Amino acid sequence: MKCDVKDLKLAQQGRTRIEWAGRFMPVLALIRERFAGERPLKGIRMSCCLHVTTETANLVLTLKAAGAQVRLCASNPLSTQDDVAAALVKYFGVPVFAIKGENREQYFRHIAQALEHEPQVTTDDGADLISALHQQKGKRLAGVAGGTEETTTGVIRLRSMERDGVLCYPVIAVNDSETKFMFDNRYGTGQSSLDGILRATNVLYAGSTMVVCGYGWCGRGVAMRAKGMGAEVVVTEVNPVRALEARMDGFRVMKLIDACRHGNLFITVTGDINVIDRQHMLAMKDGAVVCNSGHFDAEINKAALDRITKSRRELRQFCVEHRLKNGRRLILLAEGRLVNLAAAEGHPAMVMDMSFANQALAAEYIIGNRGQLENRVHKLPEKLDQEIARLKLRTMGITIDKLTREQAVYLSSWQHGT
Ligand SMILES: NC(=O)c1ccc[n+]([C@@H]2O[C@H](COP(=O)([O-])OP(=O)(O)OC[C@H]3O[C@@H](n4cnc5c(N)ncnc54)[C@H](O)[C@@H]3O)[C@@H](O)[C@H]2O)c1
Repeated sequence: MKCDVKDLKLAQQGRTRIEWAGRFMPVLALIRERFAGERPLKGIRMSCCLHVTTETANLVLTLKAAGAQVRLCASNPLSTQDDVAAALVKYFGVPVFAIKGENREQYFRHIAQALEHEPQVTTDDGADLISALHQQKGKRLAGVAGGTEETTTGVIRLRSMERDGVLCYPVIAVNDSETKFMFDNRYGTGQSSLDGILRATNVLYAGSTMVVCGYGWCGRGVAMRAKGMGAEVVVTEVNPVRALEARMDGFRVMKLIDACRHGNLFITVTGDINVIDRQHMLAMKDGAVVCNSGHFDAEINKAALDRITKSRRELRQFCVEHRLKNGRRLILLAEGRLVNLAAAEGHPAMVMDMSFANQALAAEYIIGNRGQLENRVHKLPEKLDQEIARLKLRTMGITIDKLTREQAVYLSSWQHGT
């Protein structure tokens, strides 16, 4: 079987960790059970470009239970868990093309290898695979029934392809399900980003000032959790409504250049480019720690950092000190890539349960509606989103009220007033 992983000897450890994550993914397990009986993806070739983590392994096993033939590559050069990649190859027969720390050339070669079996469904986290496939053009593209996309940045890229009229098949924006962005982006990124910073630095949040750039779903989570750990949180934004929300949520809001005088820790979660730029880095205090949890490593201007750096040394894993020409030191974590996946393990399985339930149902929906969806970016039907929430509550042992008939009529009528 063709594959490219770091070391198959890591497989046993990977299998145990995949099982552990599976214990916290009961909704996905219910879907897997149904899939194993119904086989909705029987014989379907899928290429998945995702962070190769224990949770992703559980998704891949669910797609396989549905009958799909899955190839997997990484959606970020630093997010692969090599033991998981090895276990998927050795114990589950999944062709995986992913090595933690791969260079740019390897990264895109792995994407090309994941596409070699001519997928009928693609699964992306950041839209690199779909973008590579669209650049190849030809018959390989014509054979695709549809795709799915996991993250905000990927959905933005796909909407731009749709706008330019170049999107050649329908895609389900998994990110846009409520059971995804309200939980994964907020609580997942909130917790795992702080985890990544801790593992890379072992700093104390209490008493630190943390500057959170971007108050979207991820930023809200990071700010909320940092506050809970005792940090003073400063938010920077470009959207006035979000800035106002951050202020009323109890955070200080200011321009980034002003925040540079206060911050000990800086994190970007915007999906934007060069958010932390040359002038910001030059204005930061000695010893400031800078990292990113947005999808691409474009949020911190690394080229500008290199130009103002006199020397550098690795202090700890994923923790590099830059001695700047102005005499101050700036610490960059995880090369400016997703700190939660590079320096920690990404989101906990408990939250990925819902994200990947959405992915599994989206793949089934694409095949069930093959040839009927326009070549656009679609949301998963609300009914399925609600069903995932219902199942999650059930697995958490929580029951909720139902509308009475009287209430249902009342809420859908316009005649009732004072
Ligand atoms: N680390 C992870 O595991 C993980 C998980 C989910 C999403 N993401 C990624 O995180 C990023 C943010 O996702 P989201 O769902 O929070 O998006 P979002 O659109 O909800 O929020 C982004 C926010 O950043 C703000 N912003 C844009 N440019 C800015 C700038 N220059 N300065 C300050 N604020 C700015 C926007 O106004 C917006 O409020 C995306 O790249 C997404 O793909 C990462």
